[in-house]
Amino acid sequence: MLNVTGLAVHYGAIQALRGISFKVSRGEIITLIGSNGAGKTTTLHSISNIIRKTSGGVVFDGQDISSLAPDRIVASGLVQVPEGRRIFANLSVRDNLEMGAYTRRDRGIRSDREMVYEIFPRLRERQKQTAGTLSGGEQQMLAMGRALMARPKLLLLDEPSMGLAPILVDEIFSVIKRINGEGTTILLVEQNAFKALGIAHRGYILETGEVIKSGAAGDLIKDDVVKTAYLGG
Ligand SMILES: Nc1ncnc2c1ncn2[C@@H]1O[C@H](COP(=O)(O)OP(=O)(O)OP(=O)(O)O)[C@@H](O)[C@H]1O
Ligand SMILES: [Mg+2]
Repeated sequence: MLNVTGLAVHYGAIQALRGISFKVSRGEIITLIGSNGAGKTTTLHSISNIIRKTSGGVVFDGQDISSLAPDRIVASGLVQVPEGRRIFANLSVRDNLEMGAYTRRDRGIRSDREMVYEIFPRLRERQKQTAGTLSGGEQQMLAMGRALMARPKLLLLDEPSMGLAPILVDEIFSVIKRINGEGTTILLVEQNAFKALGIAHRGYILETGEVIKSGAAGDLIKDDVVKTAYLGG
């Protein structure tokens, strides 16, 4: 479904990505794991084409999207939930969800909102609340709900567990599993390697802009290098 080849990105003189390649098949949960500054967010931004690539190809659903405009990429079914949520703080919960559907012209928007409220009952209770006053966990739910309103085929999630209490982390990860179970393919960026490998099918380990290891999640979780660097020994 997604084929990324030789992705390289420079910020000025600094090379943030050094030729990253990976694949995501339909129906999978794939995780990209790496520590601070490894290049995870840069990878997602360059797939969504919101930063400039030095080189590399991105094919999504049979279409070369490497130079497609970001809104066209969203409309084609590839939707990113940004790091740190980036909800519209001054809009209500409900209006944030509406914004997620801005590329759509069909009649399914209302029923999709119901679907989002069913997945995140807390958002229904708070639909009139100003989004900026939601708790961190609720804002993560809203950011995910807003992305679902675009009817993604592939959802890119950038550190959804960041800054959340353990019980909310569990809730977010079980929602990711559920969304995947209902047919959405997932590319999950995480520092929480243990949790991410717990729900993913396969994973790629990123270090200073390179993929240093990849494999089945069940193998990576037992791997000595991964254990030492990312799973606290
Ligand atoms: N706009 C920018 N200008 C200059 N350097 C940047 C910019 N954005 C990112 N970088 C650098 O690129 C490298 C990769 O950053 P990136 O944000 O992709 O890392 P990350 O893996 O997402 O890290 P984190 O887990 O902390 O979010 C880092 O060294 C970072 O300082
Ligand atoms: Mg990041």
